[in-house]
Amino acid sequence: MSEPIKGKVIVITGASSGLGEAAARHLSHQGASVALGARRAGRIEALAAELTAVGGQALAVTTDVTHSEQVKRLVDTAVERYGRIDVLINNAGLMPHSPLERLKLDDWNRMIDVNVKGVLYGIAAALPHMIRRKSGHIVNVASVAGHVVRPGSAVYSATKTAVRVISEGLRQEVKPHNIRTTVISPGAIASELPDSITEKDIAADVHRFYEDLAIPADSFARAVVFAISQPEDVDVNEILYRPTRQLL
Ligand SMILES: NC(=O)c1ccc[n+]([C@@H]2O[C@H](COP(=O)([O-])OP(=O)(O)OC[C@H]3O[C@@H](n4cnc5c(N)ncnc54)[C@H](OP(=O)(O)O)[C@@H]3O)[C@@H](O)[C@H]2O)c1
Repeated sequence: MSEPIKGKVIVITGASSGLGEAAARHLSHQGASVALGARRAGRIEALAAELTAVGGQALAVTTDVTHSEQVKRLVDTAVERYGRIDVLINNAGLMPHSPLERLKLDDWNRMIDVNVKGVLYGIAAALPHMIRRKSGHIVNVASVAGHVVRPGSAVYSATKTAVRVISEGLRQEVKPHNIRTTVISPGAIASELPDSITEKDIAADVHRFYEDLAIPADSFARAVVFAISQPEDVDVNEILYRPTRQLL
């Protein structure tokens, strides 16, 4: 029997736009209680209000995932309000592509801090609760770029490869605690992600690429639903998907 989404307590980082926002809406409409984290407080508060207005359970906690104590506060607030955490979606991320020779050290550091350390801080915040209950599911968001590296994507691809490696290590380690892990690697999905590119010419290229073939963020929400609605003895570890027209 598949597990219903209704009644699950789901914490989502990066819920203020794109994939995280789409997942929050989709999961809330299916009856999940959602805890939304991101830095743009106005956005997540408005989304929580919108979901609550139609009968959902939603809360917003302003969260910068580069600060471990803020991620812990997000997860702890969900546990205090809803009694437990069933699913953590480590989704916050950015993609400021550029060739290495442009020496964009600030971009490299931000990607490592958000895409890698942010995921680790999410794991650190959720694991103690999940281990205590011998139940839980951690969904990490990697990317097709964690499988394929192209000129300009070296650091982003490295961070997403790291997310895959961390997810596989986590998968093996949390088996004794009955915790499930999924890494989702999407291709080009319409979101604000290309806006994180700081080099004008690269941003223009990536925007053109996305305008040409990106698919809606709802595709991500459906992948999450597939992974987290399996029966308790089924652990969906990896989902890799792209727009049908995307080659690499
Ligand atoms: N769109 C794609 O084509 C695609 C493909 C593969 C993988 N992904 C991955 O999907 C995830 C979501 O990206 P998206 O496409 O939905 O892009 P997006 O629309 O730009 O959303 C990124 C989210 O991450 C949050 N975020 C960024 N820095 C943060 C920080 N320091 N602390 C907390 N939250 C932070 C943003 O919220 P605030 O700015 O409000 O903090 C926003 O909610 C990322 O991990 C991305 O790498 C996306």
